[in-house]
Amino acid sequence: MSETDRIPAAQLPPGEVGRAGKWAVGNRDGEYFAVSRRCRHQLADLSGGSLDADGCLVCPWHQAKYDVRTGEMVEGPRGLLGYHGPTPGYTQFVRAYAKVLKLRVKRALRRGDDVVVAD
Ligand code: FES
Repeated sequence: MSETDRIPAAQLPPGEVGRAGKWAVGNRDGEYFAVSRRCRHQLADLSGGSLDADGCLVCPWHQAKYDVRTGEMVEGPRGLLGYHGPTPGYTQFVRAYAKVLKLRVKRALRRGDDVVVAD
């Protein structure tokens, strides 16, 4: 673990997502998680994403959704490049390859005033 793989816990109230080094970390109903930051679609920074009502991490660019427990993309993107909207066949294609190229998943733990990404 590097010193940069941490974030003040005060920046991660329930429902928030932030950045700890190369990890997107978040607070899913009181449980912290850490996943690799680059979306499997077009590499958006997932630390700028959000959590939906089901606790999935939503990409800030085209709203692909990830299960933060497994790193699997559970819903494909809604658009590509600068376009935001329906892309039916393309969405399924991206989701298919993202099943193989999952996000990396690490544990995130509270240590003192910080949340740290554990090995
Ligand atoms: S870059 Fe994440 S859904 Fe497109």
